[in-house]
Amino acid sequence: MARPAPSPLLLLVVLAGALAGGGEAALLKAHFYRPSCPAAEAVVRDIVVARVAADPAALPARLLRLFFHDCFVRGCDASVLIDSMAGNTAEKDAGPNGSLGGLDVIDTAKAVLEAVCPGVVSCADIVALAARDAMHTQFGRDLWDVQLGRRDGVVSSASEALSNIPSPSDNFTTLEAKFASKGLDVKDLVILSGTYISSQHR
Ligand code: HEM
Ligand SMILES: *[C@@H]1O[C@H](CO)[C@@H](O)[C@H](O)[C@H]1NC(C)=O
Ligand SMILES: *[C@@H]1O[C@H](CO)[C@@H](O)[C@H](O)[C@H]1NC(C)=O
Repeated sequence: MARPAPSPLLLLVVLAGALAGGGEAALLKAHFYRPSCPAAEAVVRDIVVARVAADPAALPARLLRLFFHDCFVRGCDASVLIDSMAGNTAEKDAGPNGSLGGLDVIDTAKAVLEAVCPGVVSCADIVALAARDAMHTQFGRDLWDVQLGRRDGVVSSASEALSNIPSPSDNFTTLEAKFASKGLDVKDLVILSGTYISSQHR
C-alpha cells in the first residue's frame, strides 16, 4: 500500500490528538512513569523507531489506526489486543478489524517493559505512546502530548467493536453519532473523512 502523503496523515493526526485528549485525560498525567519506570517512554520509542525503519510505508499509519480502534471501544484500554477465547469473540476478530496491524509491536514493547519494570506499564499506555512515536518518525517531532496512567481493560467484545467503530456503509447521521459518543465533533468527522477518501484515491 502506498505511503500516505504527509498532509493526509497530518489530518489523521489531528483526530488522533483529539482522541488522546479525551474525557479520561483529567485522570492521566504526562510522564506518569517517571518515578515507577523511568525507561518506559524511551523503550517504546526505540522499539517503534526500529520497527518503522523496517516497515516505513505501512507501520506508522497502522499504529495510529490501532489507537483509534482501541479508543473507540470501551475507551483507550488496550481491549483491542485481547484474544478471543472459548465463549467470547474479541474486538480483534470483529469485522472492522480489516487489516488491523502493529499489534506485534505493542506485544514486543510490553515484553521488554515487563523485563525492565514488571507489572507497571499498561498496554493501553503503550498503544497511546506508540501512536505518538509512530507519527514522530514521520514528522520529526511530537505532534501531541501523551497523558499516561491508563489501566488495561479485561473485556473485549466483537459486537461492541461492530457497533462502535465507524463502518464505511454508515450514513452521516450514524457517523456523527458515533463520533459524538467519543467526544469528537462534525469538524473532526469531516476532516477525517476527506482525508480518508483522498488517501484511498491516490
Ligand atoms: C469515518 C471513520 C472511518 C471509517 C469509516 C474507516 C474505515 C476504514 C476501512 C473500511 C478501512 C479498510 C479496512 C480493510 O483493509 O479491510 C480502513 C483502513 C484504515 N483506516 Fe480507517 N476508517 C475511519 C477512521 C479512521 C481513523 C480515525 C484512522 C486513524 C486515526 C484510520 C486509519 C486507517 C488506516 C491507517 C487504514 C489502513 C490500514 C492498513 O491497510 O494498514 N481510519 N478504514
Ligand atoms: C480479524 O478477524 C479475522 C476473523 O475472525 C481473523 O481471522 C483475523 O486474524 C483478525 N485480525 C487480527 C489482526 O487479529
Ligand atoms: C441512517 O442509518 C440509521 C441506521 O441504519 C437509520 O436508522 C437512519 O434512518 C439512517 N438515516 C438516514 C438519514 O438515512
